Amino acid sequence: MKKYVKFNKEKILIVNKNYRLSRFFNPRKLNKELLKQYDVMWQAAQKDKINLNIVSGYRSYKYQQKLLKEYLRVDNVENVKKYLAMPGHSEHQTGLAIDLINTESKLIKKYRKEYKWLYNNTYKYGFILRYPKGKENITGYKYEPWHFRYVGKNLAKELYNSGDYLTLEEYFHLNNKKR
Ligand code: DAL
Ligand code: ZN
Repeated sequence: MKKYVKFNKEKILIVNKNYRLSRFFNPRKLNKELLKQYDVMWQAAQKDKINLNIVSGYRSYKYQQKLLKEYLRVDNVENVKKYLAMPGHSEHQTGLAIDLINTESKLIKKYRKEYKWLYNNTYKYGFILRYPKGKENITGYKYEPWHFRYVGKNLAKELYNSGDYLTLEEYFHLNNKKR
């Protein structure tokens, strides 16, 4: 069963270690609203001389299975589970999550200037840093400075929390015990 939480009049789709999507949940592409807002954000970033690119957007259940197989060739399952969602448990399958790189094809890392910009600006366009530093025990994933989830502007502002990011799990008191 898909999990939604209500925020004002909006329905927010939750995917985490507990709440999964069926293999048939398949929007095939990134959410339209997300793309619209990404475009606005991209232009604002350009004005500040920040170049952004999406390196990973929508990923199907099958594609996540393929990634899992690849990672398991080089790493053990306990480790892999800390940075890769099991098939059905990835936000990328919702079409509501993006991984960002700069134009030199480098993933957004904490020390990069792009990250500083993103950290303090994405909420204005409805995106949140989904796996913040220090929240590994809550999200179940290692810090991912490149992974942004689209939740809409109102909720994004709440979760941005003046720069002290809250997770969806904290804000909605969600169960996320499975590992
Ligand atoms: N890297 C994130 C957790 C994912 O696989 O969706
Ligand atoms: Zn991601």
